[in-house]
Amino acid sequence: MEERKGFGSNFGFLMAAVGSAVGLGNIWGFPNKMGANGGFTFLIIYLILAAICGFIVMLGELAIGRKTGAGAIKAYKVLSKKFKWVGWLGVASAFFILSFYCALGGYCIKYVVLNFGNLINAGFGSNGLSGADVFGGFMTNQLEGVIFGLIFVAITMIIVMGGVGGGIEKVCSVGMPALFVMLVICIVRVLTLENAVDGLKYMFVPGWAVANGVIEEAPNLFSVISTAGGQMFFSLSIGMGAMITYGSYLNKKENLEKNALIIVIMDTLIALCAGLCVIPARFALDPTGKLGGPSLLFVTMQNVFDRMGSVGPIFGIIFYLLVVFAAISSSISLLETVVAHFVDKAQDEGKGDKRKSYSLITTIFVAILCVIVCLDGLGSNGVWVPFQHLFAPDAIPTFCDCWLDFFDCISEGIMMPLGGLLMTLMLGWETGPDLVKEESEQEGNKMKSFGYFKFCVKFITPLCMALILYGQLKDFFGGLFV
Ligand code: TRP
Repeated sequence: MEERKGFGSNFGFLMAAVGSAVGLGNIWGFPNKMGANGGFTFLIIYLILAAICGFIVMLGELAIGRKTGAGAIKAYKVLSKKFKWVGWLGVASAFFILSFYCALGGYCIKYVVLNFGNLINAGFGSNGLSGADVFGGFMTNQLEGVIFGLIFVAITMIIVMGGVGGGIEKVCSVGMPALFVMLVICIVRVLTLENAVDGLKYMFVPGWAVANGVIEEAPNLFSVISTAGGQMFFSLSIGMGAMITYGSYLNKKENLEKNALIIVIMDTLIALCAGLCVIPARFALDPTGKLGGPSLLFVTMQNVFDRMGSVGPIFGIIFYLLVVFAAISSSISLLETVVAHFVDKAQDEGKGDKRKSYSLITTIFVAILCVIVCLDGLGSNGVWVPFQHLFAPDAIPTFCDCWLDFFDCISEGIMMPLGGLLMTLMLGWETGPDLVKEESEQEGNKMKSFGYFKFCVKFITPLCMALILYGQLKDFFGGLFV
């Protein structure tokens, strides 16, 4: 059997794994969910969940991957009788996530171009229109949406074709540090704007948002827990096998426990940094702008850059470029999760690597789903969505609100928390947590947190996961689900 080509260095692995974790979920999801869910309360709950669920599932996935040296599907097959199909759940959810992730990634590329247009006063800039009008126009322009979506899909494919060490590691090792620098530049600019401090209060002062009428009422604790939990899962790229896949390429001498911890911490830090950039900017320059949904990233932020004066387009380009980088380093991990399976299979059957052909075939399917999401334009174009016709127009539940939400509900709402839950049940009760200990203690490393890991993976994590799953289902299916 041919040798599997993996990461060249631990730094490269970390950048790729952090790259997978850091994405639209951090830059866009985290700030607005934190804001809408009581700010500081959300933050504390998020941190607790990251420690008792995030770290546990992250370490579990990396260990499963490295032990079996295989992608998600084969890994579960090798390890378990009862859970051998869980890998398929992961690969299927990768498809659904990719569909809308690439569409949104395409929107971000469009916004880099738009700001460049503003910089050189070209016709493809905003042409004096407000952020809302530009975005509305873009959503109903189906051809443009599809083109940018497909450009994003194509970039993802080309990097994955280059393989893990050649494509993914190289891109992330440059892209991640660059992203961080761009983020710091944006934060410094934003925090020196007048009134930016209101944004900090919104994020960090408990009760401030309600007292000042920014949100209507404080959310209940259960819904904060399930929102924070869902966000944490998506943000850390766990629950569907992406980290199993990356772990499978990691050298046995590296310390799994330490790597898992670093990934969780970095991801959380960058989410906080993104919050420090986006939220204060909105309070300083677009105080009436929406704080949630796609409009935060595409309408509110564009208004912010339009109001910065002549340097606006430059910051616009830097900011959206940063988001594009973050999104690409995440989408490649999603595509790799699928491609790794086929590459493994081909190698087992002695057919050679075949990475390029499998990347292409997988990408074609992703592109089809992505085109559907782009044509729909977040529901602007009246494209038929499954089940939607069953509801009155003012009573449509989130899960079939538009194609993006439909795919998001299937993947983020159901498959991922379920995948995470099943994984902890497998590790805790079928194979036993010792599997993770043995894998972590390869080549003389010590697993310091084993006692903690064992207790969490058996009891605490599955319980939290079940709660999160329940909360997500309730959120997405609304009145349909009691
Ligand atoms: N974590 C990424 C984000 O925050 C999205 C992502 C990439 C992801 N790979 C994943 C989510 C695998 C779940 C599973 O935007």
